[in-house]
Amino acid sequence: MEIKEITGLPDYSEIIELINAEWPREFGGKTDDEKIGEMVRSHQVQTDTVKYLIEEQKIIGFYRYTLWPRKNPDSDKAHTMDIAVIPARQNQGLGIMLMTDLIKDCREKDFNQLLSRSMRNNPGSIRLHQSLDFTVYLETEDSIVWEINPQFMSLPN
Ligand SMILES: CC(C)(COP(=O)(O)OP(=O)(O)OC[C@H]1O[C@@H](n2cnc3c(N)ncnc32)[C@H](O)[C@@H]1OP(=O)(O)O)[C@@H](O)C(=O)NCCC(=O)NCCS
Repeated sequence: MEIKEITGLPDYSEIIELINAEWPREFGGKTDDEKIGEMVRSHQVQTDTVKYLIEEQKIIGFYRYTLWPRKNPDSDKAHTMDIAVIPARQNQGLGIMLMTDLIKDCREKDFNQLLSRSMRNNPGSIRLHQSLDFTVYLETEDSIVWEINPQFMSLPN
């Protein structure tokens, strides 16, 4: 199993199973092509970091995070945009593995705050952030925004 950084614009069509796994139900019934189009449109090569989790040549997980706010190139903050594991491999520790890698990547890039949002109707996402000791940054009616300082967190190797 390896975690591999994708440089440039990812070919989002190759991870449609992962995009479908994380697509919020409240965003409505879009086609796969429409979802891929939205991923491409929302991607900024200058600010976004994408990594795939690969097992036996199959992509089984991915994450994307970005500089935050995106328009401030000097910001020392980051925000997760996506994190997903294919349904058949969820709840086996791979989400923790991916988020740990994401936090380490933020630490290497000297970010001192990582923000991340869970919808309240997503217990897997909430538990993932709690397990890694994120704390609540703010709450909205339908979501929780978490924060962590990547510089001050003990992580497994
Ligand atoms: C959220 C997600 C990335 C977590 O990855 P995962 O590989 O399933 O999670 P892990 O196996 O690493 O488990 C992390 C923790 O969450 C818990 N968990 C995982 N799925 C859960 C679920 N559906 N309900 C409740 N808890 C859950 C695990 O028990 C574990 O808790 P623990 O540390 O107390 O043992 C994954 O479930 C997923 O891809 N979901 C669909 C996409 C999505 O919603 N992404 C999040 C957007 S913010």
